[in-house]
Amino acid sequence: MYYADEIIEEIRYSNDIVEVVSEYVSLEKKGRYYFGLCPFHKEKTPSFSVTPSLQIFNCFGCSKGGNVIQFIMNIENLDFVEAVKLLAEKANIILPETGAGISEDELVKKKNLIGINKEAARFYYNYLTAGKGKEALEYLSARKIMKRTIKKFGLGLSPLSSGLLLKHLNDKGYEDRLIVESGLAISGNNGIYERFRGRIMFPIFDIRGNVIGFGGRVVDKSKPKYMNSPETMTYNKRKNLYGLNYAKNSGNKNIIVVEGYMDVISLHQSGIINSVASLGTALTESQGRILKKYFDRIIICYDSDAAGKNAAMRGLDLLNDIGCNVKVLEIPNGKDPDDFIRNNGADRFNNLIEKSSSLAEYKIRELKKNYNIETTDGRVAFVNKMAAVLAELDNKIEMEMYLKKLAGDYGVSEESIYAEIIKLKGKAAFSPAFLKKKTDVRIKTGTFDKDEKEIIHDELLLIAALCLDNNVYGLIKDDLAADDFTKDNRVVLKRIFERLNKNERVVAAEVLSSMSEVSSCALAGIIDKECNFDDGRKPLDIVTKLKKHKLMARKKEIFEILKNRESLGEGDVEKFTRELNVIVMQMKNSEIKTRKEGFNEAKR
Ligand code: CTP
Ligand code: MN
Repeated sequence: MYYADEIIEEIRYSNDIVEVVSEYVSLEKKGRYYFGLCPFHKEKTPSFSVTPSLQIFNCFGCSKGGNVIQFIMNIENLDFVEAVKLLAEKANIILPETGAGISEDELVKKKNLIGINKEAARFYYNYLTAGKGKEALEYLSARKIMKRTIKKFGLGLSPLSSGLLLKHLNDKGYEDRLIVESGLAISGNNGIYERFRGRIMFPIFDIRGNVIGFGGRVVDKSKPKYMNSPETMTYNKRKNLYGLNYAKNSGNKNIIVVEGYMDVISLHQSGIINSVASLGTALTESQGRILKKYFDRIIICYDSDAAGKNAAMRGLDLLNDIGCNVKVLEIPNGKDPDDFIRNNGADRFNNLIEKSSSLAEYKIRELKKNYNIETTDGRVAFVNKMAAVLAELDNKIEMEMYLKKLAGDYGVSEESIYAEIIKLKGKAAFSPAFLKKKTDVRIKTGTFDKDEKEIIHDELLLIAALCLDNNVYGLIKDDLAADDFTKDNRVVLKRIFERLNKNERVVAAEVLSSMSEVSSCALAGIIDKECNFDDGRKPLDIVTKLKKHKLMARKKEIFEILKNRESLGEGDVEKFTRELNVIVMQMKNSEIKTRKEGFNEAKR
């Protein structure tokens, strides 16, 4: 999904980079810069700088850099679109949802629904912590939930009788109609009443931390234990994962998927923040895809009751099908993660994570429960099923490893399982699952040789020069075209040239928005480190250097051509020789010129 450049730019300049960064990093002003400890790598002395005049950040230590959008992408671990959305919300700018077919009216409504949820969460939180929450607080404390956890997850309490929340929301300017649409109230025969009463409230956050719905738990043994917001314009159960707003920043490659609110809260409180809940339902494909985007491996940790097991099994197959690396963590004695941690501590939970099983191991362990391998019939049936599980593995080494292990574990011969696999493999080779895995090709990122790296660097230097002094364009436009540049920079320069041709201004922070992660870090670094121009140089000098590059490249080309002069016609030899002479002269001239202007190459 793409937004128009103008909107992205509006969102960018509506969010002052110093203000936004200050929410995460404590900054100190030094001259034209602000400095602070880099949030992207560990350090003791500040090497992270923000330049308000240019609206960019750059770290001298880890080389992260870019504009405010890229800062949010990095610190919140969001993709470009999500980061733009977050900043749009901060600046109260309404984004058009291209393709989603949502009208402006609906967008305003969506914003209001999020506003209502946020207000309600505040109300419930205050009611718990500063109102009538004595009993509920005691309950939470008995479950070892700490104050800071109540705050982090915004836990609250809904009043026993309907009215207070409605009044609060009305006072904030929200109409009943919209409150009903948010799911917080229900329309009955005698007007509207609040959905949640006398329950501990769990706000459900989306990935950006907006409150999009609620779960409410009773404080006693009454039923239903949990009540949840209905599906609304903002809350889609199938696409949301509880706790992902925090888990995505954990920096961990593994994600633990649990069933319930309390499990996530317990895990996070114990420092295991790479955990989310699917909230009672089996994982959906959308949830799987979201997890795949942020994590390398998914560890399913469902309750060990039958419902939990079935849910786990469905989740495993689904995740496996969409190409996730899945493992299963089983908690002994039928406990859920929250029980286990409360009784055994986080260290022992971490041990369980270490010991979690692969998909094949788990499936086979479950299978075995259905067979009596003491009897011959039972053993044959079990081996056949086991072979079917192994035949699904597309990694031969993995398959052989299991073969050995399982043969040992279950007292059957490796050969008998293998014979069965071979039988099945013939068929499996044509199954859609098998074909799908084969086409899952990973793209490798290319590496450049030194020359190309240098050229790319110099091109970025030109982009920097152009952005810092738009007049530089006048000096290069006759000599350089976008097509003269390497692939990524070509696209960027094309856009810059188009703008400058129309006499529109171009600034670095805007250009950064359209660049890849690698390029934007590089450009921000170049602007910070190489474009101070305190040493008498000007952006123009960069251009001179680049022009020389181009001439040198052409010179090399002509040398190569002239090496094979036998294959050239007489006229061609003359033509290329003449061009070569012109180039040599141009290079001399530009050297004289740069020297005159006091540009000393050696100084760099
Ligand atoms: N759930 C629900 N409605 C219910 C029961 C459960 O929506 N009536 C969902 C909730 O999201 C809940 C999850 O399923 O968190 C797992 O259910 P359960 O294991 O019963 O709840 P716990 O989270 O373990 O709750 P607690 O420890 O507070 O009993
Ligand atoms: Mn529980």
